[in-house]
Amino acid sequence: MKKIAVLTGGGDAPGMNAAVRSVVLKANDYQMDVVGIKYGFRGLIEKYFTLLDPYKMSDFVHTGGTRLFTSRYPEFKESNIQAQAIKHLVAEGIEGLVVFGGDGSSRGALALSKCGFPTISLPATIDNDMGGTDFSIGFDTALTTAVEAVDKIRDTATSHDRIFIVEVMGRGAGDIAYWTAISTDADRAVIPEEDFDMADVVEDIQACRFAGQKRYMIILAEGVMKAHDFVQNMLEIENFNVRVSQLGHIQRGGKPTPKDRVLASRLGAEAVDRLLSGHSGCSVGIRGSMVQTLAIEEALAEERTFLKILRQHSFDYLF
Ligand code: F6P
Repeated sequence: MKKIAVLTGGGDAPGMNAAVRSVVLKANDYQMDVVGIKYGFRGLIEKYFTLLDPYKMSDFVHTGGTRLFTSRYPEFKESNIQAQAIKHLVAEGIEGLVVFGGDGSSRGALALSKCGFPTISLPATIDNDMGGTDFSIGFDTALTTAVEAVDKIRDTATSHDRIFIVEVMGRGAGDIAYWTAISTDADRAVIPEEDFDMADVVEDIQACRFAGQKRYMIILAEGVMKAHDFVQNMLEIENFNVRVSQLGHIQRGGKPTPKDRVLASRLGAEAVDRLLSGHSGCSVGIRGSMVQTLAIEEALAEERTFLKILRQHSFDYLF
């Protein structure tokens, strides 16, 4: 291979730039050129192609967002669009593609691979909701941001003896919420992976108050419901004085943590090696401390285990 391409798709995740840098520098070691596709899968159709210079990668590793830009592009599900993308890649002399993103991007990568274009997928989303890996690029940074924010909210919650509902991102996954709750002395994590009963929540708040703890913090995963709806449901049972904080997109921005930078660098380099050794349609992730490669289909179908294992520790004594 003489020329490969890289793109970032779906929601941006801190560490995507570090990942792109890693692909470019590793490919350069093999005397390969790397073309950056801007705006994710949409860029394949609109031909937003730019050659990435390995000597101009110095501002990539520590920056948030994605310098290749990104987009949500549901049209890529269509087979005629996929065929057009391959046509454009081949016309540019591109022989392989590395895709960083979430589930949707992984499916896009799988489609290209099935059409015969060598494509590797890597997990990059703050949600940590992907199979085939313990951690996705960006999760550690988003978690760090959420924890810093909740630490601040705790100060004011404690000062006023208040109940706070803090809504965090995660799409259908409770990872950000659960890890944040453990890390911040929150009183409860409400996540999609666990049933909850509002009457039980109210009872717990009352019990804490009776025992002398007036401040109460709930970390709510957006995948359960919106914080304002949660409060409405709560107020139907008990007329508490509640405050809501929706952390929102601050969780997606900011400098990647060293852990995300290292993960992104490892996975990016492995993707180049995989392409060079003739692999396609696989997803490169991390299991324990080892880089692991699975067929994308297997990764997509895999039950996510890490949160499950964590919950088996039973943090009941904390919440
Ligand atoms: O997938 C990342 C994520 O930030 C989710 O946590 C969230 O539900 C979604 O993207 C928000 O997407 P958008 O920025 O397109 O509204």
